[in-house]
Amino acid sequence: DTPAKNPTKTHNLRVDGSRLWSTLMETARFGATPAGGINRLTLSDEDRAVRDWFRDACEAAGLEVGTDALGTQFALRRGRDMSRKPIACGSHLDTQPTGGKFDGILGVLAGLEVMRSLNDAGIETEAPLLLVNWTNEEGSRFAPAMMASAAYAGEFTTDEILAKRDAKGVSVGEALESIGYQGGEPVGAREIGAFVELHIEQGPILEAEQKTIGVVEGGQGIAWFDGTVAGFESHAGTTPMPRRRDAMLGLAEFALAVERIALAHAPTAVATLGEAEIVSPSRNVVPGQIRFTLDVRDPASAVLDAMEAALNEAAAEIGTRRNLAIALTRIWRKEPVPFHPHLIAAVDGAAEGLGLSRRRMVSGAGHDACNLAGRMPAAMIFVPCKDGVSHNESESAEPADCAAGADVLLHTLVTLANA
Ligand code: GLV
Ligand code: MN
Ligand code: MN
Ligand code: MN
Repeated sequence: DTPAKNPTKTHNLRVDGSRLWSTLMETARFGATPAGGINRLTLSDEDRAVRDWFRDACEAAGLEVGTDALGTQFALRRGRDMSRKPIACGSHLDTQPTGGKFDGILGVLAGLEVMRSLNDAGIETEAPLLLVNWTNEEGSRFAPAMMASAAYAGEFTTDEILAKRDAKGVSVGEALESIGYQGGEPVGAREIGAFVELHIEQGPILEAEQKTIGVVEGGQGIAWFDGTVAGFESHAGTTPMPRRRDAMLGLAEFALAVERIALAHAPTAVATLGEAEIVSPSRNVVPGQIRFTLDVRDPASAVLDAMEAALNEAAAEIGTRRNLAIALTRIWRKEPVPFHPHLIAAVDGAAEGLGLSRRRMVSGAGHDACNLAGRMPAAMIFVPCKDGVSHNESESAEPADCAAGADVLLHTLVTLANA
């Protein structure tokens, strides 16, 4: 029974929201933390466990599962016309070290729920459908974030990504091998017609405005930096205050400069000094060497440029005044990304057809869809999360909102696959 033959059947179709919710709660055991969050760093044993579960669940739903050379998992649902490029959805199964139960996995499990619902209803689409788990979206263990989708879109070679190392010196290639997820499929070889990603908003706007669906028009730009502060280690009991070259005090001043520079481009700009580490720390040694990281974002390229210049100026000024060397190296930059008007309209139309309240918005977080937009039409669907909190173990979302997002995903995919 094709949707074309039976439009009413498709029109009235809804996902099984309680099945989606129990799947979310079931998979939350992989990397569960005592505080109710998830620690499932990319390519860890916990990641392997959830990947195994995902592969088995996809196969049980009749999907054909493949893995590429960066560990990205693809699950294909055949269409009536296999000469057409598949219409894809998905997101990521990895989390931050203190992540929650929804960031990433909602988009993957909602895709699985869409496939299951179509199976239950006996609906075949014209184009095939594809469900994807992209390796290392978070970028917490290996930088940059979203590296597998970037390689898929041609921004990096596979070898460049395989060579990236975590803080312990383990490479992506070694980590893939140790969990058994280096697949045979060449990265980027598989053609995709369009990509639609469902995700929690990770910010407060939808909840504050009591809207169920965010129709995402694009993603903001991101710049990542590695930084060092070099001073001089000396005795904490004997070095007079004026003679010190204290790297910690340089970093403290620089952290306040980061805040000032972001506020100068309010309300859009944000900047975060997320990691800082004294090299060989000791209670009775004046800190001599510090490593830190910076995450800087704005929807406008020119603002990213201006902030980078201001950050370098502040580093030089504080360094000179305190007799320290503060150095910034930009390790990654992702330009702001507009999504495809045709796909944005498809998401909007699906939400409208379901009678769901909605608003247009720009994504503050980075997403694989932002990379894929460089190679194919892409768009995103947001649903609210509690208090706008994400990258936190308390991250939470309502079952009804997750189901509504999955319904929008279902109708967007079916519309695109049958167009
Ligand atoms: C990753 O989740 C990011 O948006 O930085
Ligand atoms: Mn995410
Ligand atoms: Mn995240
Ligand atoms: Mn993200």
